[in-house]
Amino acid sequence: MEYAEVIRSRYSARSYRAVEVPEDVLQRVLEAFVLAPTAANRQALGLVVVRTDGREDDLRRIYRADWFAKEPPLIVAVCAVLDRCWMRKDGKCYADVDAAIAMDHLILAAANEGLGTCWIGAFDAEAAREVLGLPEGVEPIALTPLGYAADSPKPKVRKPLESLVHYEQW
Ligand SMILES: Cc1cc2nc3c(=O)[nH]c(=O)nc-3n(C[C@H](O)[C@H](O)[C@H](O)COP(=O)(O)O)c2cc1C
Repeated sequence: MEYAEVIRSRYSARSYRAVEVPEDVLQRVLEAFVLAPTAANRQALGLVVVRTDGREDDLRRIYRADWFAKEPPLIVAVCAVLDRCWMRKDGKCYADVDAAIAMDHLILAAANEGLGTCWIGAFDAEAAREVLGLPEGVEPIALTPLGYAADSPKPKVRKPLESLVHYEQW
């Protein structure tokens, strides 16, 4: 797919078909995650891939929407590894930023493969830590289902470019 087409085709899919993601497709999507840039190349992040089959009850504890746990074949959770993060001089830890960039790489690679995704930020972090077996210092940042979408994109609602983009000064 052309890059511009990938950007346009991605949308938040909230319904999925009961079709497995082939292993080679999954590997390409995961490679995009690994290839993402990170601050000082610290790679202070990690990913948990969960097969939903048989884990529905656990996954529902993380995010309650019915479709999330039972429809997509896979859920992936991107995590920040806090004690490995690059810190700016003023103490800002960039692990969240790294995780978000890598997640976006994954999501766009998924769109390129014809897969549906949906950023999930409104999850229960405590349940995620428990269900995903995250050790101390590993923070869940975002999740997405991964599978073939059963819904269709709605028209994009976005602010006009002029209201978001400033030249020279805000
Ligand atoms: C950081 C982040 C967190 C989000 N969290 C959720 C969420 O918890 N549940 C959900 O259904 N959608 C979530 N979304 C999806 C947004 O609602 C969606 O991206 C936005 O409405 C634009 O629609 P589109 O993705 O179809 O272009 C999230 C998106 C981002 C970027």
